[in-house]
Amino acid sequence: MVTRLDWTSQSGGALHGSVRVPGDKSVSHRALMLGALADGTSHIRGFLEGEDTRATAAVLQQLGVRIDTPTDGERVVHGVGLHGLRGTTEQLDCGNAGTGMRLLTGLLAGQSFDSTLVGDESLSKRPMRRVTDPLALMGARIDTQDGLPPLLVRGGQPLHGISYTLPVASAQVKSALLLAGLYAQGETEVIEPHPTRDYTERMLAAFGWPIDFSPGRARIGGGHALRATDVDVPADFSSAAFFLVAASIVPGSELRLPAVGLNPRRTGLLQALRLMGADIRVENERESGGEPVGDLVVRHAPLHGIELPEALVPDMIDEFPVLFVAAAAATGTTVVRGAAELRVKESDRIASMARGLRALGVAIEEAPDGATIEGGVIGGGAIDSHGDHRIAMSFAVAGLVANGTVQIGDCANVATSFPGFMELANGCGFRLA
Ligand code: S3P
Repeated sequence: MVTRLDWTSQSGGALHGSVRVPGDKSVSHRALMLGALADGTSHIRGFLEGEDTRATAAVLQQLGVRIDTPTDGERVVHGVGLHGLRGTTEQLDCGNAGTGMRLLTGLLAGQSFDSTLVGDESLSKRPMRRVTDPLALMGARIDTQDGLPPLLVRGGQPLHGISYTLPVASAQVKSALLLAGLYAQGETEVIEPHPTRDYTERMLAAFGWPIDFSPGRARIGGGHALRATDVDVPADFSSAAFFLVAASIVPGSELRLPAVGLNPRRTGLLQALRLMGADIRVENERESGGEPVGDLVVRHAPLHGIELPEALVPDMIDEFPVLFVAAAAATGTTVVRGAAELRVKESDRIASMARGLRALGVAIEEAPDGATIEGGVIGGGAIDSHGDHRIAMSFAVAGLVANGTVQIGDCANVATSFPGFMELANGCGFRLA
């Protein structure tokens, strides 16, 4: 049932122009946290002004860290050093952010004081044992509500390093363990079933902490110090993704997306869309702040269905909602498997997309770990985003090629990751109201 009609999206012709999407969410969270624990002052440029990353900044401020905002998209973090955080009896509210909560859990496990982490309705339903179980093996004491938030992270627990093989590929879990590892005696090693985004590893190295890492493996020792450093945050590939699909499916379109982060652990959608026939070029490839970035130029091209290679799944984990829209607009059948993690994101993204696409007349069959989508005509209709930012933006893209109006309920959460989406989208030819 549609609870609130926040947006309507309609087709309205080709998309054109240059679209500068906001800063990377993963990098923004991590820059705040490492900046807070560093000795000295770190400047962050290109910071994502989203609710998720602002929640992390607010939590760090509650813990005694001064964070200034000279201009939008900029933060100056006055680091307090590894042992300089101050405890608080107030609840620490991570909002909608799984990344914020899971990374902070690791960071707080090594403190001398107790902390209580809470989140919004969606975050309160997300599984936390994936972080609290391995942290307990390191000596941490964390109380959950049957595996869910709120989390009570007990202070004063001596931590020791472990070698841990992740049961599911998750950069959040890996990062939580590495952050706890800063406070642990001995070495903390994390081994992944499939390599995930390595921002924590790269950034620890940039802040001067000795770390040994290669795809699928990271190892650090405790007892060093973090040195303040400046961080240039690239544009978020996951936000660019909506425009890559939009321009691919709307005839006559051409969009340029400048300075997008192209960390190979993030760009699985680029490969998937190319396998479907998309025309996407990368120009001006360069390095910025230790990360590969480039300008993406995307032109309309007829897409066809594919069997998605499972190896791509971890590299495009947040892009499935919009991939489902590309599949619905393509000719032929697209099969996605090996993506059970989608069921524990901000919403159950397999179920949310299946319900929404069916409401628009698309044939889609759910599997426990994916879906089979029949491409063809997308109709108008009313869908619910289930409070999930990426579901809302994906259906805004679907509306561009629908033969009727797409009404999207409950879109407020778009502000968690992509403030200004509507204005940017309408600026290049969406008809979003
Ligand atoms: C993230 C890791 C991914 C991703 C999330 C951001 C990160 O989550 O879906 O949006 O910044 O580490 P998982 O670790 O649950 O795969």
